[in-house]
Amino acid sequence: MRTPSRPTPHLAAVLLALVLAACGGPEKHSQGVPDSGTTLPEPDAGAPDAGEPDAGTPDSGTPDAGAPDAGIPDSGTPDAGAPDAGEPDAGEPEDPLVIPKTLSGFGLFTGSPGDGGLLPVEGNVPYTLTTPLFSDYMVKSRTLYVPPDKVAHYDAKDVLDLPVGTLITKTFSLPADLRAPDQNLRAVETRVLVHQPSGWAAYPYLWNADQTEATQVPGGRVLSLEYIDLDGEARTLSYLVPSRNQCLTCHHLKNEAGDQILVPIGVKARYLNRTNVYGGVEHNQLDHLATLGKLDGLPPTEERPHAPDAFDEEAASLETRARTYLDINCAHCHNPKGTAGDTSRLFLDIDNADPFHLGVCKRPGSAGNDVGGEFDIVPGDHTTSILWYRMNTVESGKMMPQIGRSLRHVEGSKLIADWIDSMPKQSCK
Ligand code: HEC
Ligand code: HEC
Repeated sequence: MRTPSRPTPHLAAVLLALVLAACGGPEKHSQGVPDSGTTLPEPDAGAPDAGEPDAGTPDSGTPDAGAPDAGIPDSGTPDAGAPDAGEPDAGEPEDPLVIPKTLSGFGLFTGSPGDGGLLPVEGNVPYTLTTPLFSDYMVKSRTLYVPPDKVAHYDAKDVLDLPVGTLITKTFSLPADLRAPDQNLRAVETRVLVHQPSGWAAYPYLWNADQTEATQVPGGRVLSLEYIDLDGEARTLSYLVPSRNQCLTCHHLKNEAGDQILVPIGVKARYLNRTNVYGGVEHNQLDHLATLGKLDGLPPTEERPHAPDAFDEEAASLETRARTYLDINCAHCHNPKGTAGDTSRLFLDIDNADPFHLGVCKRPGSAGNDVGGEFDIVPGDHTTSILWYRMNTVESGKMMPQIGRSLRHVEGSKLIADWIDSMPKQSCK
């Protein structure tokens, strides 16, 4: 009952089922109108299975369904406010959501890529970013679900303040032919971020060959995927579906206590500030969320930050586009609160105004030969700049990012090369 094997038409229905399963009776929720999809109580699923948290085991050899429900969020320690798992009818929303083994168990979509398309249910809002992360030319689709009666709070700079119960999905599909990126897509994986009472938790789901269901693979996978590249050559991509632990290598920050915590990355106002098509009508994504009652504190249009499309030459200066590319592709590790930032002191976030920490005439902290030069950025010369070299290479141990791609992002490398070459020449020595 917790993990229905068929796609469910309504999130509401699933959540109701979960709540009923946990609470043992409908009385508490009788005021809800079960079919509306918006009036249900919080999606507090109550008692998670006792299954061990499976984050630690890179079990890529074991069959898909091996892992038990990961109902307990990573930290394993319930907050003071969160009742023990297993205690029924705790009332308030602060029970962890039971994590289904299959993607359909969330009830966030109807259909599947193999059967009419993966369609978000009402309340599960599709969004795109002005500039996304490059991931081996994968086509990605994203959705944001903020539970009924809850609202996200606007933030001008950081990730939106998303309430407990929020679910974010990102589905990765590979086009059969990169020259026609919107045709013959094969869904490969769907990644889900869940805001549990104890913090965010991350789950990878792998699509089956029939494209009818995706199953959780806590240990990740390495896949061989066939495709045709931009030059028309048949290729095989060695593609990594990250394990739950690997999600953290990018989705992390050090909090005030110095602990590494899992966080979303892209759901920031500046990247969401663009139009999308909802019900056939173009609407700014931030306005759309506000209209749905899912976002408050949104300032007037002209006061909202905007990150340009890094590849639209009309959209912004070369420098702004290059900095935007580095911000979304690199800054989740290279920022003052990230581990790579901490060790390398290379800060590629859009807010860093210090040229040295951006890499200008900076010798890399981490030793390593044959990385294209002596300095991260040599102004005016990308060919001797380590930052460009490590982006452009596909050699493991040298390539940046070191996880999340195995192909060169040709357009991205060129953007950064052009930007470095546009800087006034300087020898650094
Ligand atoms: C190589 C770094 C990297 C790894 C590894 C990674 N992510 Fe992400 N992820 C990103 C970036 C950058 C974004 C924002 C840009 C985008 O959506 O294209 C993002 C976005 C997302 C989103 C959309 C919400 C958001 O944070 O903006 C979800 C959901 C997500 N990732 C889940 C996962 C899960 C689950 C895993 C592990 C299975 C994972 N990610 C591993 C870098 C990574
Ligand atoms: C998943 C985390 C992660 C991401 C994403 C990432 N890096 Fe790194 N980067 C590291 C780590 C860790 C180091 C230090 C170890 C090393 O040099 O390999 C590093 C080191 C570097 C260095 C050497 C810096 C110095 O001064 O010591 C450069 C240059 C660099 N990265 C560029 C980039 C660029 C450009 C991107 C985006 C295209 C990027 N990185 C994305 C983790 C990351």
